[in-house]
Amino acid sequence: MSVGIDKAAFYTSPYYLDLRTLAKARGVDPNKFTVGLGQQQMAVSPPDEDIVTLGANAAYQILLDEDIKSIDTLLFATETGIDQSKAAGILVHRLLKLSPRCRVVELKQACYSGTAALQMAMDQLRVNPSRKILLIASDIARYGLNTAGESSQGGGAVAMLLTANPRMIAIEPEAGFVTEDAWDFWRPNYRDEALVDGKYSCDLYLKILREAWQHYSEQSNRDYDAHQHFCFHIPIPRLAEKALQKLALINGKEKPVGKALDAACDATLEYSRTIGNCYTASLYLGLLSLLDNDNADLTNHRIGFYSYGSGCTAEFFSAVVQPSYRNVRCKAFHQQLLKRRRELTQQEYEYFYNFSYPRDGSSLSLPKSSTGRFRLASLNQHQRHYKTNEAPCVLQSVPVHQAS
Ligand code: HMG
Repeated sequence: MSVGIDKAAFYTSPYYLDLRTLAKARGVDPNKFTVGLGQQQMAVSPPDEDIVTLGANAAYQILLDEDIKSIDTLLFATETGIDQSKAAGILVHRLLKLSPRCRVVELKQACYSGTAALQMAMDQLRVNPSRKILLIASDIARYGLNTAGESSQGGGAVAMLLTANPRMIAIEPEAGFVTEDAWDFWRPNYRDEALVDGKYSCDLYLKILREAWQHYSEQSNRDYDAHQHFCFHIPIPRLAEKALQKLALINGKEKPVGKALDAACDATLEYSRTIGNCYTASLYLGLLSLLDNDNADLTNHRIGFYSYGSGCTAEFFSAVVQPSYRNVRCKAFHQQLLKRRRELTQQEYEYFYNFSYPRDGSSLSLPKSSTGRFRLASLNQHQRHYKTNEAPCVLQSVPVHQAS
């Protein structure tokens, strides 16, 4: 019996900023972002979109009535927590009308917790294969205006239904993992923006890759050539390319460059180049990008996954693509979602970015800017209230005149 991801979808904001616009505003050569980081655009969430609505909108795409009735666990991975106590997944549980007989918990370890949740769920399914587990990884990456990290923001969620005998990918039991106490990226409870030692974080991501790979290859007895594809955590696309090059060198292979590098990475990086970093969801966004955008039949191909969470914990594991993967992927939905996005001006981006929620318990109705089925409608008495849009929404103009 195999266990893994039966179906999955991503959701992201209907708004984006082109990084050439950001480069112009910051007086930077645009090639630094588009070539140096490999990033073309980044998703920007409006005030009525948060990790709950992103996650619920992603999950809504994959769940049938029979799934909604039988999911008995919702694992919500995020580092954009909206509350120190209440799990964001409980708000998603209500929006999706999941059964009350359901466990809900939120998990945190920077960008790694989606993988921690996935592996915990796999162990549960191996013991009890009749269960259905919903895993949502949802984040909004924020570093602050005019910071070095600003060009590596973004946001989105990936929802995965985890089952026995999955139709998308089967997760193999062997894994390699490593933890090292480091302050490369962190966000104290009192801050809305992450703090980061950017260059150190990139060096550590690549250093720990070697250790996670070595542990995985010892556990699995698999070498580099046993994998047809690799998906890496994608804080910036260029770093994932560097990770592939490093993995090849570690294994005594020629360093892939030029067309060989593009052939190995382009399909997995396509969505991230236009969405940006979505922390816990990034690795799985890379998986969906590969399954949607590689035109070959990937059935029975093995994918190696490198999951990295600052702080830091990393894991290398693998999965095998299942024969029915094309029947369960949400390619048309993903492509429509990206096609219908609206480009923001620099001023509109900064208006969304600077929007602040009340911290004193006062009431605020949020302007309707998001377009998904679920939106954050208001805040009142320190609580968040969400609404379901029964009819499809149209993109709203951004009320930038309220800015400044
Ligand atoms: P930076 O200071 O914006 O950029 O920092 P840079 O000066 O390092 O330049 C970037 C690249 O552009 C360099 O290439 C330049 O040479 C090149 P490299 O030498 O690295 O190959 N470049 C140009 N290329 C073409 N034309 C030009 C040009 N100019 C320069 N004109 C950095 C970049 C990623 C550090 C910054 O954006 C940052 O701090 N981001 C946030 C942290 C981050 O993403 N770290 C990644 C690893 S940690 C991680 O993955 C975990 C994370 O997801 C969080 C979590 O786990 O929760 C972040």
